Amino acid sequence: MAPDSFAEGRGGSRVHRQPDSAGQVERARMALVACPVAAIGTEARHDLQDARRAFPEPIEEDVYFCGWASPRSYGAASYLIRRPAGNVLVDSPRFARPLVERLEALGGVSLMVLSHIDDVADHEAFAAHFGCARIIHRADAQGTLAGAERLIDGNAPVSLADDLTLIPVPGHTAGSVCLLYRNHFLFTGDHLAWDTDRRRLEAWRDYCWFDWTAQTASMRRLLDQHFEWVLPGHGDAVSLPAATMRAALGDCVRRMEEPARRAG
Ligand SMILES: [Fe+2]
Repeated sequence: MAPDSFAEGRGGSRVHRQPDSAGQVERARMALVACPVAAIGTEARHDLQDARRAFPEPIEEDVYFCGWASPRSYGAASYLIRRPAGNVLVDSPRFARPLVERLEALGGVSLMVLSHIDDVADHEAFAAHFGCARIIHRADAQGTLAGAERLIDGNAPVSLADDLTLIPVPGHTAGSVCLLYRNHFLFTGDHLAWDTDRRRLEAWRDYCWFDWTAQTASMRRLLDQHFEWVLPGHGDAVSLPAATMRAALGDCVRRMEEPARRAG
């Protein structure tokens, strides 16, 4: 969000230098709005009006980062796809009035795709307000998700539209799914993310709640897909040329398979 000003520290993010340029100040204000727990302090009372209206923030073409992360989604990132056939909200931000008004201005929400049970936050409020259908894998459709309008089953990719494919990737949770948009953007939930420090794609064994072997197999199946963006719930997003992305994913799969090979 604002790497010039904030850095990951032990126990959370910390300010590692005061923002100075106008651009850095604006990015820092946007980080205030995106932060799920309002944990960032300010010495002066900044006018956050512009920052509050800055979300959803364009990433590339018709894909936006929503900001307004919710502690009920563990601070996960959520995304908006703006498309003529109907806008798609990928995972749930906070149901915050400034964001809802911006989503209305951008055409509302027709479909809410939920990558897995962890990142659903205010899904009921968004569904009620926008009248959008919610879609989630049946294996993760617990609690309030039992009322989702559409459940998918099994491991085979599901075509939602010409430009949208849902790809089950069991592992992090039993019902984790990735959403592939236009064979270009892959929304990965907590299945896969970019590690900026190591400059490589990563899956997190320590945060695998369901089955690491299943997650490894799911990751290998992603090698069949073509995409140039990884847009995760947690961790960093990355854009790479398709061939480079595929090589990075192959490297991730090999690292995931390594311990099993040694044990075997
Ligand atoms: Fe998760």
